[in-house]
Amino acid sequence: MSIKPLIILPDPVLRQVSKPVERVDADLRKLADDMLETMYDAPGIGLAAIQIGEPRRLLVIDLAKEGEEPQPHVFINPEVLESSDQRSVYEEGCLSIPDYYAEVERPASVRVKYLDRDGKLQEIQAEGLMATCLQHEIDHLNGVLFIDHISKLKRDMVVRKFKKLAKDKVPGKMVG
Ligand code: NI
Repeated sequence: MSIKPLIILPDPVLRQVSKPVERVDADLRKLADDMLETMYDAPGIGLAAIQIGEPRRLLVIDLAKEGEEPQPHVFINPEVLESSDQRSVYEEGCLSIPDYYAEVERPASVRVKYLDRDGKLQEIQAEGLMATCLQHEIDHLNGVLFIDHISKLKRDMVVRKFKKLAKDKVPGKMVG
């Protein structure tokens, strides 16, 4: 397993639409393991493959709290079958938009079908944090970021900030 570098806003890779996984094989499981390790290292609770530059419809989630046993979940080709009318609000963040958090309203529960790491078709009725996290990560597979769900004013501000940060990171510039 290895930790991969994260793709950070405003990298256009994050806007790519990921392609369906065609085969669940050892290579794909290795990618899922690398994603889990990268996510635990960050640390974060969810990661989509595109966030390490792999445009494949694959995401990992682990909602276990600190001190609890890890509960790694791998979702391959996830698809939302049904969303509740009831909505809920969570403060969201993203490993591709470090240190920025904002409240996002989404359906409170979703039914999602997906393939597990053995390639077996599964379905989950997700509620609470799992519902929010799944929707956030599935958005990534479609090139959508959580800041697309906040006001344009706030989004423009955060994009401007990250563009400036990226520009200040020009190679050859020494920052002590
Ligand atoms: Ni994210």
